Amino acid sequence: MLDEAALKIAQQRLLAVYDPQRFRAAAEQWGELLATHLERDQQRETRVLNWAEPAANIAEAERWLDGVSTNPAAHFPDIVRQMLDRGHNLHHPRYIGHQVPAPVPIAGLFDAVGSVTNQVMAIYEMGPWATAVERALVNRLGEQIGWQRDSFAGLVTHGGSLGNLTGLLTARNVALGGSWEEGVAGGAGVPRRAPVIIVQGDAHYSVARAAGVIGLGTKQVLRAALDERRKLDPQKLDEQLTELIAQGQRVVAVSACACATPIGAFDPLRDVAAVCRTHGVWMHVDAAHGGAALFSRRYRHLLDGVDQADSVVWDAHKMMFMPALCAFVFYRDKRHRFETFRQEAPYLFDPSAPGMAEYDSGMLTLECTKRAAAYGLWGTWSLFGQQLFEDLVDVTFDLGRVFYEKLLATEDFVPLHEPECNIVAFRHVPAAMKSAPPETLGAFQRELRRRLIESGRFYIVQTNHGGVGALRVTIINPLTTADDLDELLVTLRELGVELLKSDRP
Ligand SMILES: Cc1ncc(COP(=O)(O)O)c(C=O)c1O
Repeated sequence: MLDEAALKIAQQRLLAVYDPQRFRAAAEQWGELLATHLERDQQRETRVLNWAEPAANIAEAERWLDGVSTNPAAHFPDIVRQMLDRGHNLHHPRYIGHQVPAPVPIAGLFDAVGSVTNQVMAIYEMGPWATAVERALVNRLGEQIGWQRDSFAGLVTHGGSLGNLTGLLTARNVALGGSWEEGVAGGAGVPRRAPVIIVQGDAHYSVARAAGVIGLGTKQVLRAALDERRKLDPQKLDEQLTELIAQGQRVVAVSACACATPIGAFDPLRDVAAVCRTHGVWMHVDAAHGGAALFSRRYRHLLDGVDQADSVVWDAHKMMFMPALCAFVFYRDKRHRFETFRQEAPYLFDPSAPGMAEYDSGMLTLECTKRAAAYGLWGTWSLFGQQLFEDLVDVTFDLGRVFYEKLLATEDFVPLHEPECNIVAFRHVPAAMKSAPPETLGAFQRELRRRLIESGRFYIVQTNHGGVGALRVTIINPLTTADDLDELLVTLRELGVELLKSDRP
């Protein structure tokens, strides 16, 4: 134990760390630094990606840990600047990369209220307002899906992957009654065939991973056939289910996409739902990316039939332009909300107030302590209204089309599909590459992209299309312009010429 004097000194040190005046001064500096950073990003003065080799970055980060200053007020802005200077600039309009947006900046301020005051939940009384905010958003988003208030249920969790896991675990517990307690094998008795799950052929890897986690096994994931636009084919799904069920196979769920990751294909949800209904199989829709299109009068038709799904995942940190992580899981039938986790934790969930369990987030989510992940969304919605979400979808989805048309108008770029949203996969095929074998063409795309992102001029991603390397953009910064997209093609051409002159690929 510390003696009295040492305790006092330690408390003095802590008092300085918790001092509201110092906090106020730091917050003012923080606001100024971030606003200046956003301005520089928007004026395209920063590098999109500040590329450094991982080992160099880690060494540098560690060096800072030894740089403790005797004057924290003076040191604070240096630390913030370091974070900004080394980071990835998603607010740069030439960030056109992963399905991670340039978030609405002010959403981060609302999130920060939750972080600074540590608003968390597990049970209602831990975070009454944080819980209320989530429930209000669940109500509104569920209504966007097309459901009647009070007939459905929903929750917020840390990302689409955890969302898929949660939704599919619920499906498993419903389809294989008793599996929560006895395991998937079904306890004592006659051995049965291992159950399967049917998954859109291009589904995000988190769906197959969920099958592993929930004890079905990744080998029990059956891919559903896709049509030529890489959408789930309802007719073939019907045939697949008919055959499986005739063989006595237990099918936990069909997992459809709105949209699938590789090229942003939206499945025909209404037809898929009809097939699932006929066979009595749970329908899960991964709308992590495309859910927000429900706000758009022009694009909501892409999700027609989503209201027929049993569970839906919808990420606010994708196309609602929120900072990570904020994802929603919905159940069409409210009665399924407690099927996911049937455990009881009496020290948390107070039997003397049983009605309260309805509002205890820990009953519905894998997380126990869970941050107030929806503060950013709730604050932003309260400030700007839902028109903002329609605008964000309309602008970025339209730009996907604009980019596609630009690609079509060139001799040396090939779009790999007609986009339905803001995801576009393509290749650069200069004259020298026209008759190159697929592996050379694929390697050329990958090396081109590496040079592009290391240059700091743009950030795009790479993918595989038909087993061959390709380039892929997600236009997920609403400040990206058609000129930026022209400039991307110019830059890729320039780098392509350089690359062809060098030895690689
Ligand atoms: C369709 C789809 N589902 C799920 C995910 C995973 O979401 P998260 O990264 O929030 O875990 C992604 C990620 O891009 C996705 O595209």
